[in-house]
Amino acid sequence: MDHTTLTLDGQRAAVDDGTTPPHAVIRVDDVHKIYDMGETSVRALRGVTLDVEPGGFLAIMGASGSGKSTLMNILGCLDRPTSGRYLLDGTDVSRLDKRALALVRNRKLGFVFQGFNLLPRTTALENVQLPALYSPSTKAERVARAKYALGLVGLTSRAHHFPSQMSGGQQQRVAIARALVNRPSILLADEPTGNLDSRTSVEIMAVLQGLNDAGLTIVLVTHEHEIAQFAKRIVVFRDGRIRRDDAVLERPRATDVLETLPALDD
Ligand SMILES: Nc1ncnc2c1ncn2[C@@H]1O[C@H](COP(=O)(O)OP(=O)(O)OP(=O)(O)O)[C@@H](O)[C@H]1O
Ligand SMILES: [Mg+2]
Repeated sequence: MDHTTLTLDGQRAAVDDGTTPPHAVIRVDDVHKIYDMGETSVRALRGVTLDVEPGGFLAIMGASGSGKSTLMNILGCLDRPTSGRYLLDGTDVSRLDKRALALVRNRKLGFVFQGFNLLPRTTALENVQLPALYSPSTKAERVARAKYALGLVGLTSRAHHFPSQMSGGQQQRVAIARALVNRPSILLADEPTGNLDSRTSVEIMAVLQGLNDAGLTIVLVTHEHEIAQFAKRIVVFRDGRIRRDDAVLERPRATDVLETLPALDD
């Protein structure tokens, strides 16, 4: 697959089923999250309201403990708000049970984390297929989808490599391909460049910008301002609330920035 002609099959069709409020693939409405610890409780989110339009690219920043991952867990249907609503593609998922949440997660969401979480004795191609095992598909379809996803991140040539035979940036690209294999409408990335050097981080942002250009909605958590600048919009959390919400005005292209950075062996 040619890296420059990437398309995200089925992407745009997935976001408009007629029930979606205009221009919001994610709609978070006055969400609170209280972690009940028995004697004490932690108010991790204190009234968060946030819309993300299809094709949006949101970076979430804020101090440690400000609630970023708590919100990502809710956006990712890994957890539910204590109060408030979360509409995903126009469907209220805030009260779904665990089973139903798992279905939504598998169909609509892709996840990338700071640690790549690849299975060590498993090739890139096999790692990428893993989320597809839970969807009805034949082995041949899964392989084809995994190859396509590896192409989207520019790693066709590493399909048969094991994680230990790849650089950190390549491993994270495999993890991104794995997140894409079920053709999600949203990619959620919690500090995806947290373990990478600065050039490799920009390479990952180039991949994410390319996917976003092709229509994928992305929500990214980062501590680094330089990384957040590659998004279209930056939201800053403080003490469980949104403190700032700004469009990125002069958004750099990660591919342009890469040309200014010294090259490393890939
Ligand atoms: N499972 C949990 N049980 C109890 N408290 C929790 C739990 N998860 C998070 N918290 C608390 O909720 C608050 C928000 O945590 P969260 O993980 O969302 O922060 P964060 O912004 O992602 O921080 P970091 O930048 O360090 O990743 C913190 O005070 C944290 O201690
Ligand atoms: Mg966190």
